[in-house]
Amino acid sequence: MEFRYLGRSGLKISEIAYGNWITHGSQVEEDAAHACVQAALEEGITTFDTADVYAGTRAEAVLGRALKGQRREGLEIFTKVFWPTGRGPNDRGLSRKHVMESINGSLKRLGTDYVDLYQAHRYDHETPLEETLRAFEDIVRQGKALYIGVSEWRAEEIMRALEIAEEMGFDRIISNQPQYSMLWRVIEEEIVPLCTAEGIGQIVWSPIAQGVLTGKYLPGSPLPAGSRATDESGGAGFVKSWLEEDILTRVQKLKPVAQEAGLTMAQLAVAWVLQNPNVSAAIVGASRPEQVRDNVKASGVKLDPELMTQIDDILGDTVERDPGKTVSPAKRP
Ligand SMILES: NC(=O)c1ccc[n+]([C@@H]2O[C@H](COP(=O)([O-])OP(=O)(O)OC[C@H]3O[C@@H](n4cnc5c(N)ncnc54)[C@H](OP(=O)(O)O)[C@@H]3O)[C@@H](O)[C@H]2O)c1
Repeated sequence: MEFRYLGRSGLKISEIAYGNWITHGSQVEEDAAHACVQAALEEGITTFDTADVYAGTRAEAVLGRALKGQRREGLEIFTKVFWPTGRGPNDRGLSRKHVMESINGSLKRLGTDYVDLYQAHRYDHETPLEETLRAFEDIVRQGKALYIGVSEWRAEEIMRALEIAEEMGFDRIISNQPQYSMLWRVIEEEIVPLCTAEGIGQIVWSPIAQGVLTGKYLPGSPLPAGSRATDESGGAGFVKSWLEEDILTRVQKLKPVAQEAGLTMAQLAVAWVLQNPNVSAAIVGASRPEQVRDNVKASGVKLDPELMTQIDDILGDTVERDPGKTVSPAKRP
């Protein structure tokens, strides 16, 4: 496993991180979740990403149990706040009240005194940014989080947060967590140039497009049993947008490209996002340990420019590049 700095910070993280959205506390049973975490640890993954909202707060608790007994200093644990964790009007968003309460809940469920990175899961248009950033600053001063990041923020939102940090003497945001894959490149035009200049690293999610870039979803064929697309507890609704004939047909054409490079399709997809030097880590998910062991082999892989062009030619206009697709809800969910 290779390590990268998280943005312009001194923190090193495994360039492949393990995330537990959809899976822990929902799609997979507790023992399968533990087996995936164990495989991740054995393969050299030290960075784990979760969120308060995943599986209605159960995912953090599963991860906490799976990591129990590990040396805390050898792990980087990331979580997030924004999406609803309860029914009340203050159980969501980035108000000082919810941020302060949510971090306490996360620490309890994760069974740790601090998280390494605390992330605003979306931008909250209903809370003054100064309020959120001061709450985050207080959390850092209290030692409950070591670094602060955001997720799916637009370039102008990140810029404004940096300006406020500068004006008010707060710690700067060190990371952004956007969706990024061969198929979804919306950060390339605005976010990546800004973040490169400002020392903010991308921790990218769904690098395998939720399993689609493994090539296991065949056009015109039944959905593979036991896959996210058949997970009626939630996963199926999320992966659906990728299951289009044109996308699936083109993805099949990546098979010989991966073979030629001596990689599996999943490894090719993960290696592809890691070619971007602004990426600090690719967060991969897994419903079984063999997937983790497959995906980690993408660490350290260099893809040559010719191969990158071949991928672009094959995927053509199925690639989404519109920076306007980075968007947070206008109102709190
Ligand atoms: N910040 C945000 O808003 C946000 C949003 C989404 C995700 N995330 C983070 O990113 C993490 C990863 O997201 P993701 O799970 O969508 O990422 P992903 O790595 O693109 O997809 C993971 C899923 O693909 C399938 N898969 C993975 N490796 C495979 C392999 N080698 N062979 C066959 N199938 C394989 C598995 O699903 P099946 O086996 O069930 O098919 C697995 O659960 C999340 O856990 C979370 O930490 C963040």
